Amino acid sequence: MKSETELRSTRADIPDRGLVWLNGQFLDFAAARVSVEDRGFQFGDGVYETIRVYAGTPFAIEQHIERLSRSAAAVELELPMTGGEFAAVVEELIARSGLREAEVYIQVTRGAAPRAHPFPTDVPPTVVMTVRPVRPIPRRFRERGIVVKTFPDERWARCDIKTICLLPNVLAVERARRAGADEALFVRDGLVTEGTSSNVFIVHQGEIVTPPADHRILAGVTRGLILEIARACGYRTHEREIPLPELKAASEVFITSTVKEVLAVIRVDETVIGNGEPGVVFRRLYDVYRSRLPGRGPSLNGEPVEESR
Ligand SMILES: Cc1ncc(COP(=O)(O)O)c(C=O)c1O
Repeated sequence: MKSETELRSTRADIPDRGLVWLNGQFLDFAAARVSVEDRGFQFGDGVYETIRVYAGTPFAIEQHIERLSRSAAAVELELPMTGGEFAAVVEELIARSGLREAEVYIQVTRGAAPRAHPFPTDVPPTVVMTVRPVRPIPRRFRERGIVVKTFPDERWARCDIKTICLLPNVLAVERARRAGADEALFVRDGLVTEGTSSNVFIVHQGEIVTPPADHRILAGVTRGLILEIARACGYRTHEREIPLPELKAASEVFITSTVKEVLAVIRVDETVIGNGEPGVVFRRLYDVYRSRLPGRGPSLNGEPVEESR
């Protein structure tokens, strides 16, 4: 274990307040390099996770590492480290960075080899973990809610795997932003699936509905926590398909993700949701979610209580 002074001197050496762990080495971003033949770069042949760090503690790390193992197994990528080893590196990365409010990113690819589609033999996977200060959520998103735009879901048929192939997600969110929206929602065969980096929920006749965790969506860690919180708060929950007209007619819509936490949706395309303000169910669930985060207490009047930095 490093002393506080040692940690502080390490921090001073990190110009952008972030740190990388690459195949066993702790490095600055500027020094971390991956081969041009890496299959992540060549084919998008890899899987990833993003973990939110609150008050220096990685939140829901077990669920994230478990999902990383599931994603890797689904694409026949053998992880070179155990779950415990991943968790230990994440902890050390956070400690060395000195960051308290941060995002940890883990990416594992099928390694570097001369470009050819079939799996290479005897090539070790590339494992990258990074920690960076958290991207702040705009105040407007929290206080007034967000606007979303819908797009046809043109992704592949295994959206339950968290792979690094994110081009349809990148294109949809970029087009949504250009159209003045904050997130894009995918629609497949008339049914709402999920956001480009979030899951979606509606409130229908006082009950909470979200699409089922099948091959069409990623089973979000935050989605799972919100379902559990909703039940604990006494709401009835349903995991079932949501036709787009039902989403637009909902009394509330909200999205969930590790980084965005829970955000109310106040407009979908040209349709205003409810009275155009974050709703009571959203507020209640978000309050309870915040109260469960490391270093957080219950909120005041719906305003999250930030820890002093
Ligand atoms: C497509 C997609 N759906 C849902 C989510 C939300 O998942 P989680 O709550 O685990 O962050 C993400 C997160 O990045 C995502 O990329």
